[in-house]
Amino acid sequence: MTRPLAFVALAFGFMASPSAAVELPLPWAYPVNPPDFRAEVDTGESRHVPDSDLTVTLTQVRDLFYSPDWHPADHQPQPSIVANGRKPDVQACGSCHRADGRGGPENANLTGLSAEYMARQVEALRNGTRTTSEPKRVLLLAKMVQLSKSITEEELARASEYFAHQPYRSMIDVVEADVVPKTRSADWHLSPIPNAGTEPIGNRIIEVPVDNDYFTSRDSRVRYTAYVPPGSIARGKLLATTGGDGRTVACSSCHGADLKGTAVAPAIIARSPSYVVRQLFDIQAGNRSGAGAAIMKPTVEHLTLTDMIELAAYTSSIAP
Ligand code: HEC
Ligand code: HEC
Repeated sequence: MTRPLAFVALAFGFMASPSAAVELPLPWAYPVNPPDFRAEVDTGESRHVPDSDLTVTLTQVRDLFYSPDWHPADHQPQPSIVANGRKPDVQACGSCHRADGRGGPENANLTGLSAEYMARQVEALRNGTRTTSEPKRVLLLAKMVQLSKSITEEELARASEYFAHQPYRSMIDVVEADVVPKTRSADWHLSPIPNAGTEPIGNRIIEVPVDNDYFTSRDSRVRYTAYVPPGSIARGKLLATTGGDGRTVACSSCHGADLKGTAVAPAIIARSPSYVVRQLFDIQAGNRSGAGAAIMKPTVEHLTLTDMIELAAYTSSIAP
């Protein structure tokens, strides 16, 4: 399933260009839980987040049929499919994507997307043309795949119309840095290891919640810092706007002048940059291969990992 491009290149006896050699694992883009990962135990303590009167327990935030509504004024009332899902197979969209849809680096920001595009992606998850390149993350995607098979057309329309109507929001501060906090991977995202110091960034994006407790509580307002290599925002902008002498195609030609989406292609600004790298890689590797992804495929075919990092640094740094 993976790397059909390299496979075809070998089969035809010519060298795959080195630029098409992005390889997994990329643990910073596809965080997985370490084998010794143990979820925190619920002590029954009430959890709070800033500027909210709601209190919930850890068991409640982990309930996939419950979407903690920390900031009801930020969004319209959630339809029941978003707030509570439908047992047993359709988990509440808001429990993972947050009540207003802005998501986190472990899943996807749904704000700014059209209802049609969202429904197409759920269909792609259902028919298997969209999956993840990292086998260890299949477990994370499994619930989304399961619900895509059980959700009715009406429920899906209600959920995607709801998310399409919430404000388009960014939670990412993209910061160019030579050194980054040392991080650990748990709960499908990176977080700084307390008092562990720093390390060189290398060719990576290190995206962490500013407050990991609020992240765990699924606070929709929690912000993320995405450290990117120095100079990558400007280089990403050049590549995105010019296509880099034929290496790719100007993103605006399909995603719109402001990259906020068109009838053909979705909005790509203000997304989690690790999510963006995953999508570029998944499309290049053939693990996102539906009709929409086929339109995008020639654009990613010759991208290097550095190109993907720079495009993500640039697009994620643009606020709606
Ligand atoms: C158990 C957690 C979970 C639940 C519940 C969930 N999702 Fe997702 N969703 C994910 C993950 C994980 C991804 C994929 C992220 C990736 O590809 O890296 C995703 C991706 C998506 C995407 C693709 C976004 C894009 O930009 O292409 C859409 C649309 C979506 N979900 C809609 C929904 C809807 C609608 C519901 C409720 C009916 C829902 N999700 C419930 C975890 C969840
Ligand atoms: C020829 C048209 C075309 C061009 C040019 C193009 N894209 Fe796309 N892109 C698409 C389409 C169509 C999709 C939706 C794929 C699907 O339906 O699965 C997409 C999807 C994406 C996604 C995934 C969005 C999500 O929410 O999951 C990202 C990220 C992306 N494009 C980034 C870029 C960048 C960066 C550029 C410029 C280097 C670019 N695209 C150029 C057509 C294009």
